[in-house]
Amino acid sequence: MSAFPTTRLRRLRRSGALRSLVRETRLDLEDFVHPLFVGPDTRANPELPPLGRFSVADLPREVESLASSGVTAVILFGIPDEKDEEGSGAWDEDGVVQRALRELRPRFPELLLLTDVCLCEYTSHGHCGVIRDGEIANDESLDLIARTAVSHVEAGADAVCPSDMMDGRVGAIREQLPETPIVAYSAKYASAFYGPFREAAESTPSFGDRRSYQMDPPNVREALRECELDLAEGADVIMVKPALPYLDVLRAVHERFDAPVAAYNVSGEYAMVKAAARHGWLDERTAALESLTAIKRAGADLVVSYWTKELAGWL
Ligand code: PBG
Repeated sequence: MSAFPTTRLRRLRRSGALRSLVRETRLDLEDFVHPLFVGPDTRANPELPPLGRFSVADLPREVESLASSGVTAVILFGIPDEKDEEGSGAWDEDGVVQRALRELRPRFPELLLLTDVCLCEYTSHGHCGVIRDGEIANDESLDLIARTAVSHVEAGADAVCPSDMMDGRVGAIREQLPETPIVAYSAKYASAFYGPFREAAESTPSFGDRRSYQMDPPNVREALRECELDLAEGADVIMVKPALPYLDVLRAVHERFDAPVAAYNVSGEYAMVKAAARHGWLDERTAALESLTAIKRAGADLVVSYWTKELAGWL
């Protein structure tokens, strides 16, 4: 590259049209997945609207509004009426997610219905697996997680997204569901940024934390091993979560593997911008678009984000 003054990088920044002409990354609504919470009742969350919940009866109205604004994919999270030691609400044929899927499937044949597969919203202790002698029992949990995935597919899910971080859960699901796309939360870190989600989903662990199964935040090579194993077990998409504090991980995963890479722009990332905007410290729309563009630029093919609905209006 020749030097200044022959080269002047500002030439291509002079107008909006020029900047747009050479833009390297663009946001496409079809790459975004909107999270939805379904529970026993409808409860608005005025401060963080997408973290509110809908009853099975009220959910289709919200989905109608998402679909008509151009959103093409949603991921469902369930908040059951009652929780127990094993999280049996997770695979209950009559569970809240299963009922929601049966309502939505025939009404929205084109919409992609993804489901989060985990036990933490359904267990009385709030952990993502069953507990034996005070420990999260990995292998015993696999069967329950696979059963949950099967029940979602039977009710109409297009793809299942295991988020529990038990070893071997992708293989356990794959064995039962040879045809279903699995979007694996592969590199899911034990993060402080899940706070608003846990409040919304009532899934805060009643003792201890998730550090014996979710990843240790300082590690990136371990994330590559997680992705490699999930792909070997039959995952179709590998996910990095959270997104913004882990863009280096996202980039490393994107460079190493040819499978599609998902990023989860989590509740805490969304809430930080929302809160700052409410104080007048930044402009939400600009900050959100910049954040989502950065996630795409780092290497995400698809993004789960609480901004998806608003993004539909912005694009
Ligand atoms: C369930 C699950 C969690 C999130 C997605 N699936 C919570 C957790 O692991 O504690 C977090 C999503 C968010 O913060 O937006 N295991």
